[in-house]
Amino acid sequence: MNYAAILAGGVGTRVNSIDYPKQFYTIDGKPVIIYTTEKLVNSSLIDLVYIAVIEDYYDYMMALLEEYNLTEKTVLITGGKTRMDTIDKVVEAILQKNITDDDVILIHDAVRPFITNKIIEDSIEGAKKYGATVATIPATDTIVSSVDDNVVSFIPNRRELYCGQSPDTFNLKRFIEMEGNLTEEQKNLVTGTSQVCTLNGQEIHMIPGDPINFKITTDFDLLIAENIIAGGYNEKDDNNSVKSKSFKLKGHK
Ligand code: CTP
Repeated sequence: MNYAAILAGGVGTRVNSIDYPKQFYTIDGKPVIIYTTEKLVNSSLIDLVYIAVIEDYYDYMMALLEEYNLTEKTVLITGGKTRMDTIDKVVEAILQKNITDDDVILIHDAVRPFITNKIIEDSIEGAKKYGATVATIPATDTIVSSVDDNVVSFIPNRRELYCGQSPDTFNLKRFIEMEGNLTEEQKNLVTGTSQVCTLNGQEIHMIPGDPINFKITTDFDLLIAENIIAGGYNEKDDNNSVKSKSFKLKGHK
C-alpha cells in the first residue's frame, strides 16, 4: 500500500489577513485543502489518503469531503499539537491496519496545494528504491546563518544548499522504527520530516521539487496562490510545473 498523509493540524499564525487556518482559505470557490486532497486522491499511485485536521474543523472537513466526493479514498482524523505530533497520529491510525514491509508513506503539507504528479511519482519510486526521499529545490537566495539573531555567523556555499519542501516519503516500517528512536526533545526540534532520517543516520535522497509546490505560509503566499489559480491552473495538466514553458501567472506574457 502507498499511503499519503495530509497534514492540516496547524493554525497558520503567520497569515494575518484571515482569522481561520489558511488550509481552509477559499480560492475560486474551493478551499486550499481540497486542491491538495484532490491531487493526492486522484493519483493512481496512492491507495489511501489520511487527512489530519484541527479538532474544531473535523466536522467542517468531513462536510467538505462529502461535498467534493472525496470520502472513498480518504480517512479523516484529528491532528496533534506540533507537526510531528500530527504525523504520529497519522501513523497510529495507519497502524490499526496490517502493514507490510513494502508499504510507503508520503507525508505532505495541506498548504502545498500545487504538488505535481511528477513529484508524487518520483517520491514514491525513490522511497521504494532508497527508503526515504524529500522533495527539494536549489536555494536561490544566499542563506546566511546567525546564532545571535543579530550578526551573521557564517555563509554556507549556496551551491550546496537546497530548500526542503514536502512531500517526505518513506518506507513506512523504517519510518516508524526511526520515529520510535527519537527523544521528546529531538521531536520538538524537528522542523522538517526528513530530519527524522538525519537524526537516525539514515540516508535520505533528494527528488526534484518544484517552485510551484511552495508552502502557503504568509499573506503574500495566499496572493501568489490566488494568482496561480486565476492564471488558469488546471490540476489535471502536468504542465503546471513552473519549469514548464507554458506556465503562466495572470497578466504575465
Ligand atoms: N501542521 C500540522 N499540525 C500542527 C502544525 C502544523 O499538521 N500541529 C501542518 C500545517 O497545517 C501545514 C503544515 O503542517 O499544512 C506546514 O506547517 P506550517 O506552514 O508551519 O503551518 P502552521 O503551523 O499552520 O503555520 P504557522 O507556523 O504560521 O502557525
